Amino acid sequence: MNVIRFADLIAQGQVAGKRVFIRADLNVPQDDSGRITEDTRIRASVPCVKMALEAGAAVMVTSHLGRPVEGEFKPEDSLAPVARRLGELLGREVPLVAQWTDGVDVAPGQVVMLENCRLNPGEKKNKEDLARKLAALCDIFVHDAFGTAHRAEASTYGIAQFAPVACAGPLLAAEIDAISKALANPRRPLVAIVAGSKVSTKLTILKSLARNVDGLVVGGGIANTFMLAAGLPIGKSLAEPDLLDEAKAVIEAMKARGAEVPIPVDVVVAQRFAADAPATVKAANEVAPDDMILDIGPKTAAILAEKLMAAGTIVWNGPVGVFEFDAFAHGTETVARAVAASSAFSIAGGGDTLAAIGKYGIEHEVGYISTGGGAFLEVLEGKTLPAFEILERRAKG
Ligand code: 3PG
Repeated sequence: MNVIRFADLIAQGQVAGKRVFIRADLNVPQDDSGRITEDTRIRASVPCVKMALEAGAAVMVTSHLGRPVEGEFKPEDSLAPVARRLGELLGREVPLVAQWTDGVDVAPGQVVMLENCRLNPGEKKNKEDLARKLAALCDIFVHDAFGTAHRAEASTYGIAQFAPVACAGPLLAAEIDAISKALANPRRPLVAIVAGSKVSTKLTILKSLARNVDGLVVGGGIANTFMLAAGLPIGKSLAEPDLLDEAKAVIEAMKARGAEVPIPVDVVVAQRFAADAPATVKAANEVAPDDMILDIGPKTAAILAEKLMAAGTIVWNGPVGVFEFDAFAHGTETVARAVAASSAFSIAGGGDTLAAIGKYGIEHEVGYISTGGGAFLEVLEGKTLPAFEILERRAKG
């Protein structure tokens, strides 16, 4: 992907003394008292801010937090806790600036955080007058918010249209590189794991991947629908029978390309959805009418692990069972450990997947962990994200 990279501008000496506007994605979870419960996105945004400061820029950084009503400030919408956390990570104070669209006072070597950009009227709808105001605040716009790369808002898209220079920050660039390595130029075989409760939410992803991948591993409720499509009984398991034809079409599309959708040969069932429900391993063709499938079985897990070990590239979105309950976590753990042990380049994304990676402590064995939620899913759907489109356009001049 041909975009201007912030690192290159720095290497060319084009950043010293310049006003740099960084759009980060600092949309982190907080508890009821406003305490940040998970700060990955803030930590992932530190390198860009540091690079800009070290290059001698006057640095403005902003993000959205939640989905506030534009023009209606409420204390819980404030980036104040985020500014504090960023300050701790940078080892310097990061002042928070409210009402900033008409001008920001910041000198070279300083950094300020601009209050929740979704409070600005016109942000969501990418209103041109707001976008032009934001662009006028800076000499260089740095898009470093992969988590928001699928949104075309004033602080992500409009500003990139009108700023004198628009480039990709190091986090966005790393995501671009990992995505290209996994999907555009993958080392084969390319195996994707797409799991989750519903086929309907991931149907476009399944269809898109079916055109590209060599193996499409389905898990969770999605696998149940595929088992039904393969003529297997699934008892009272979660499934979407109205999408059977779509599931069959995905299986056929893969077959036609000489690729496959491995259907579970065994499963772990329970009579109820509960952590303490007794777990029973059954062959896939022996699921009883009152069984509920909550995980893949050990034989299936071993087959999948072997495929993952032989893969050149792995794309992972979604746990293959109810891994939050230990009795139904073996499938996801086996898959996680195979992803970790495989020599394949792996990319993982999505909240549940990150939770599984954390649970099994394999963060350092995964090739790339995406910071994107919805953005990562849209990439898997084969969509061109607005952030990439506008940055490529700006790189052409
Ligand atoms: C996310 O959490 O996925 C991103 O920050 C995007 O948030 P949004 O869905 O509110 O645009």
